[in-house]
Formats: sequence, structure tokens, C-alpha cells
Amino acid sequence: MLSVPEIRISRNRKDWATEAATLIIRVGQQAVRSRGCFSLAVSGGTTPELLYETLASAAYAERFDWSAATFFFVDERCVPPEHPDSNFNLANRALFLPLRINLNNIYRMSGESSDPDGAAREYEAQIRTACASPTDIWPRIDLVLLGLGNDGHTASLFPGTAAVDERHRWVAVGHAPSGPSTRLTLTLGVINQASVVVFLVTGADKAGIVKTILNPGSDADRQLPAALVKPNRGRLIWLIDSPAASELEDHC
Ligand code: 6PG
Repeated sequence: MLSVPEIRISRNRKDWATEAATLIIRVGQQAVRSRGCFSLAVSGGTTPELLYETLASAAYAERFDWSAATFFFVDERCVPPEHPDSNFNLANRALFLPLRINLNNIYRMSGESSDPDGAAREYEAQIRTACASPTDIWPRIDLVLLGLGNDGHTASLFPGTAAVDERHRWVAVGHAPSGPSTRLTLTLGVINQASVVVFLVTGADKAGIVKTILNPGSDADRQLPAALVKPNRGRLIWLIDSPAASELEDHC
């Protein structure tokens, strides 16, 4: 049963970050209640920084026992972890260090590897060890946080690239048209197996692509990577601020 997206529009980025932080904590609390642990995969780019800072702020830091959380990465640029373009660098600076997350609870993609395909296979093995059985076809991550690019990419699944079509591997090598081109990325099979998938999108510059993904006008629109995120059994939630929602029909 493919879930209908839940769309939540916040007046501004501050309210958006509050909504997102509150949701993440609620999903975490539910996961801990039902399984005693919480697995979440985080994306990079620039959008999540305010959310990470909110989660690490005094108002939120004590609302959840982060020792129960295991962090994965949705994707990573093939750069060293201290590189300014590294998704780990962003999460570490804005979230892991302020919340004093134990390094044993963070599964970092080896962006620095000179063998991206080997690093992808290594990361799949790490995910399998951390949150899957040896026979699982797909892992089941509790929460996956995604961003959205103006070309309709999400994670490092870029339109027209092989990683989008990967149907068996859990982690693939992605290729971006700009910025650090070679990347590691979770595949759609993993993302669509998650219990909760949340798109985090802000800013008027994303209004056009938000409309295209949520109100596709063609088969090409429906084949964009972000449009292919359809959790098999989980929830799909869009957390967007008002500027990013400004081209949606009946948006107030
Ligand atoms: C990355 C992300 C990528 C990002 C989008 C949006 O590694 O860049 O995972 O999918 O979420 O490109 O990026 P912004 O948040 O910078 O707009």
C-alpha cells in the first residue's frame, strides 16, 4: 500500500525547523517504545543545518535520549570528512558534537575512499550489521530525512543516472552534474523501505520543483528521482516552508 504524502506547510523557516525537530523526536520516541532503539538516516546540502541546530539547542536537546539513536547517512560527497562539502562535516559540526553523540552510534560513509564502489559495498555491510539480518533483502530504517534538488534529485540520485535504477544494492555510487560529482548514496529500495520518510524543503527557489514533484504534469515529472520516493509500508511526509509551497494549488 503506497502512502499518500502528508504535506505540512510552515509559515517560515523557524517554524519549519520546530515542526521538523518535533516530528523527529516523536518518531524517535515511538521507535524506542516499540523496539528500544531509533535508526535515522540524514541528508546533507544546506537545508538541514537549521534543523540540526534546533535539535541541538537547549530547547530540544533534552527532549530525547539520543544514546538510543543510530545515525546513518543518506548520501555523502566523495571528499574527506573534514572537507566543507562533506555531509558528515555538516552533521558532525551542527548535530553530533553539540549532542555528544557517541561515535559508535554514527555510521559514516567513507567519502574519502579512492574506491567509491568499494566504499558503497562497505557501507551496505555496515547497515546490514547495524539494522538488518543477514537474509534481509532491504534494511528497515526508522526515519530517512531527504532534501530536494531543483532538478528533482534527492539523496545523490540524480536524473538519468544509473544509481536511480539500482534495484538490488543498498548503496550505490552517484554522479552529480555539479559540485563534488562522485557521491555515495542510499538507493530507492532502502529509502522506500523506511518506516518514515521526510522531505525537508525550504525557500522560494524550490517552489517550482516542489510543485513538479507533488503535482506532476507528465510522465517525465513522475520519473524524477524525488517522485520515485514512495514508501512501501511507511509514511511519506513533506515538511516545507511557505515560500517553497508558494506554487502549490490552494496554498494560502
Ligand atoms: C546532498 C544532499 C542532496 C540535497 C539536495 C538539496 O548531498 O547535497 O543529500 O540531496 O539534499 O541537493 O540541497 P540543499 O539543501 O543545499 O538545497
